[in-house]
Amino acid sequence: MLQIFDDLETLSRAAAERIASLGKEAVAARGRFDWLLAGGTTPERTYRLLAAEYRQERNLWVKTHFYWGDERCVPGDHPESNYLLAKRSLLDPLAISAENVDRIRAESSDRDSAAAEYEAILPAEPDLILLGLGEDGHTASLFPGSPALDESRRRVMVVEGTKPPKVRITITPLVLCAARNVLVLVSGGGKAQALQRALAAQGDVRLTPARLVREGIWFACPKTIAQRL
Ligand code: 6PG
Repeated sequence: MLQIFDDLETLSRAAAERIASLGKEAVAARGRFDWLLAGGTTPERTYRLLAAEYRQERNLWVKTHFYWGDERCVPGDHPESNYLLAKRSLLDPLAISAENVDRIRAESSDRDSAAAEYEAILPAEPDLILLGLGEDGHTASLFPGSPALDESRRRVMVVEGTKPPKVRITITPLVLCAARNVLVLVSGGGKAQALQRALAAQGDVRLTPARLVREGIWFACPKTIAQRL
């Protein structure tokens, strides 16, 4: 389901509202909200709005457990770290307890062990996976042609993508398929074709991995879809 917004601000406000709503539903139903965060740049405004305008939802935040859908293989204080983005824009402003946060230790020298350790603590059915969309149709760190797209056993693995930093740890399609809800935020020019390929009735997941979550909730800005749709 695609919803189109005038700009990133209105998209981010709608995303914050939807995330808070899904979180409260999860807490009411199961007593906790297991949320896999997205990386990249698009989600930052959504994170900041949640921290600023939903901070009073203490019963939600104390029962939210934060994970990541992917991480670049850099230290947790590196400017390219997806964890650092969320720490600065969401976790620290909301004073989230460290026991509610499980980041991917992708800086480890033993990346395969780091992936296996993360898989062991990742919830079987995340309440929400927040994702972005790359211009090439990738999502999380599942890039076109990646062997991870054919993975049938592991839920988390080391991959080499095309978007620097190239070496990453990512969830595999098994996790995407197990999520109760998926929300994809799409902003920025150059993504119109990828969005169209991701949502088209027919297509190839190997060429457009974001098709794996075609049935999810999609929020996009018009400047993204205005070009070449
Ligand atoms: C990452 C993300 C990646 C991102 C898209 C969109 O670690 O980079 O997992 O999938 O969501 O590349 O990135 P932007 O939001 O910066 O356009």
